[in-house]
Amino acid sequence: MNLEVSIGKLKLFNPVMVASGTFGKEYGKFFDINLLGAYVAKTVTLKARIGNPPPRVTETFAGMLNSIGLENKGVDDFIENKLQELSGLKIPIVASVAGDNENEYAALCKKLDGCRKVRAIELNLSCPNVRHGERIGLIAQDEKAVYGIVKKARGSTDKTLIAKLSPNVTDITVIALAAERAGCDAVSLINTFPALAVDTQTFRPMLGNVIGGLSGPAIKPIALKMVRDVCNKVRIPVVGIGGITDYKDALEFMICGATAFQVGTANFINPEAPIEILKEIKSYLKRKNIESIKKIIGSLEI
Ligand SMILES: Cc1cc2nc3c(=O)[nH]c(=O)nc-3n(C[C@H](O)[C@H](O)[C@H](O)COP(=O)(O)O)c2cc1C
Repeated sequence: MNLEVSIGKLKLFNPVMVASGTFGKEYGKFFDINLLGAYVAKTVTLKARIGNPPPRVTETFAGMLNSIGLENKGVDDFIENKLQELSGLKIPIVASVAGDNENEYAALCKKLDGCRKVRAIELNLSCPNVRHGERIGLIAQDEKAVYGIVKKARGSTDKTLIAKLSPNVTDITVIALAAERAGCDAVSLINTFPALAVDTQTFRPMLGNVIGGLSGPAIKPIALKMVRDVCNKVRIPVVGIGGITDYKDALEFMICGATAFQVGTANFINPEAPIEILKEIKSYLKRKNIESIKKIIGSLEI
């Protein structure tokens, strides 16, 4: 049985990836991470960030809200320390970066371009879009900003480049096409939806930052629709993300055209979710007598 898929120059032994910010090497206590397709690291920025005030996560019906606020020690620490900690990993490591503007994304890509251990870079575009000192939504909501950032990032690295898109847009295909035109190798979608949860005892928001990002099973059908829409428009591979909890969820994304997928919130519910999904996809293909996972990609019949 052949589970191999390709994203740009990246060859994955199977399409199972873990989503940025939801997984760490400590999951190695539960299963052999080297059995997965790829490992996406938590987003890093040029300089360290302290993140948002606590509480930063709260459970909601069929999902969770988080407002981590991109806490991280900066890209240099990632290169010097985090990558060392991941040295036991043989599967591709995808670094994830976020910045305030084109120059920051380009600088991040340039730094990571020199790291042998990093096989691909995911551009987290769900960052505030600042123009003339004014915040105007998210970068991922602005077709021109996405084009400019991907273009400059492309000029800064030869590594496989994945643009991670936000669902908080009128038409995600417009943004995906801009990323494709600018030269990225793949798009991944979706990131979280802005959302709110309130504590009825205290009358206060559940999160210190008031607003958080909704993820988990609640967002899956919306993510799936967006992935299908994007797959129908772009020629580059699409990585499906959003509420994938079991193998059927994952297959739905692939049937709708995703080349690979990422498991996020499910890791908090069941730390073995990614490996269970992989095993069950194998059993499914065997049962159905399908010799290559590629046969599944884009097989939706309407
Ligand atoms: C606690 C938490 C932290 C996250 N941190 C990041 C991050 O650093 N960078 C990023 O691109 N996405 C981050 N995400 C978004 C996920 O990677 C993913 O896009 C989103 O949660 C949707 O997938 P899911 O429903 O499977 O969780 C985070 C999500 C959660 C729940």
